[in-house]
Amino acid sequence: MKLKIALLPGDGIGPEVTQQAVKALNAISDKYKHTFEYVTASVGSIAIDETGNPLPDETLKICSDADAILFGAIGDPKYDNNPNATVRPEQGLLKLRKELGLFANIRPLTTYNSLVHKSNLKEDVIKGTDFVIYRELTGGIYFGDKNLSDDGNSASDSCTYTSEEIDRIAHLAFKAAQVRRKKLTLVDKANVLETSRLWRKRVLEVAKEYPTIQLEFLFVDNAAMQLILNPKQFDVILTENMFGDILSDEASVISGSIGLLASASIGKHAALFEPIHGSYPQAKGKNIANPLAAVLSAAMLLEHFDLYEEAEDIRAAVEKSVDLNISTPDLNTTNHFSTTSVGNFLRDFILDEENTFYNKNNIDLGQSTII
Ligand code: IPM
Ligand code: MN
Repeated sequence: MKLKIALLPGDGIGPEVTQQAVKALNAISDKYKHTFEYVTASVGSIAIDETGNPLPDETLKICSDADAILFGAIGDPKYDNNPNATVRPEQGLLKLRKELGLFANIRPLTTYNSLVHKSNLKEDVIKGTDFVIYRELTGGIYFGDKNLSDDGNSASDSCTYTSEEIDRIAHLAFKAAQVRRKKLTLVDKANVLETSRLWRKRVLEVAKEYPTIQLEFLFVDNAAMQLILNPKQFDVILTENMFGDILSDEASVISGSIGLLASASIGKHAALFEPIHGSYPQAKGKNIANPLAAVLSAAMLLEHFDLYEEAEDIRAAVEKSVDLNISTPDLNTTNHFSTTSVGNFLRDFILDEENTFYNKNNIDLGQSTII
């Protein structure tokens, strides 16, 4: 298969982790004789420095022309600490989502047996957890009218949803539930918000087309509690933009590290793949960031083009690295590996699983782990 992939490494640790994802993709293209062509473009804080715009027109064009986008991270402390900044890196990602119509953000959460003891949560609570969050990505409070009064003493963000916006992601979530454990939980705040009541009404309507799916409703405050009290109860979680943002960070605690969670953002035509972690500026350039979320995002990219065996190869390599504790400091505090070393191990394992030599010294020296 021939794929044109736009690479948007972005800010902070974005470039380092994206590089490891590309290594994994190149190993796959070598092994399966695919042709992956990459075009790199700038986005976020780095794009503001270069052009004054967090999403330059050229970047948007490159993304529109590509089959898929692999995204790193966005954000910089110099903007986080300045509420008066009118141009912000995050606007680049939000505009990209909106312009490309990436309305569904899919965030799977699985646990690794060798990591369950690393989570802050109890092993018997989280072991075997396997759910996916379908987060609406181009509507709600993120994109509603924003206002700051002239005297600067009053501000508002409005939250709007249309039936169409709700229905299209609801269909995707129900379809996902059909091939999973057939349960869908809508998370909302229907006891307070009008938009949430519309979500309930529409989801009940869409549910008629999926009679085999068990539908459940949870208020977001309760859902936040249930996620860490009994995460195994969830199969597919469907929710609006802001709730999905918050709950997916919370859910990452279950897997042991936010450095493990990948995501896919899907629209009618375009598709973007990105780790859910942010730009982690404290780790920038230190070669310590966990590349697994970026690498697993590349696996989701392959799956999007029905390259299931290839995606499975990446997941098997990731699982092996986790089992062998060939991990960055977030997962391996005593004897950790660098970002590039983990990436090299994954590449070698994909290319030659049988002969990959698990020698810590080799990996640390950046030498090939294949003998
Ligand atoms: C995410 C991020 C973004 C969001 C930020 C960077 C705008 O937190 O993808 O979860 O809030 O959607
Ligand atoms: Mn987030």
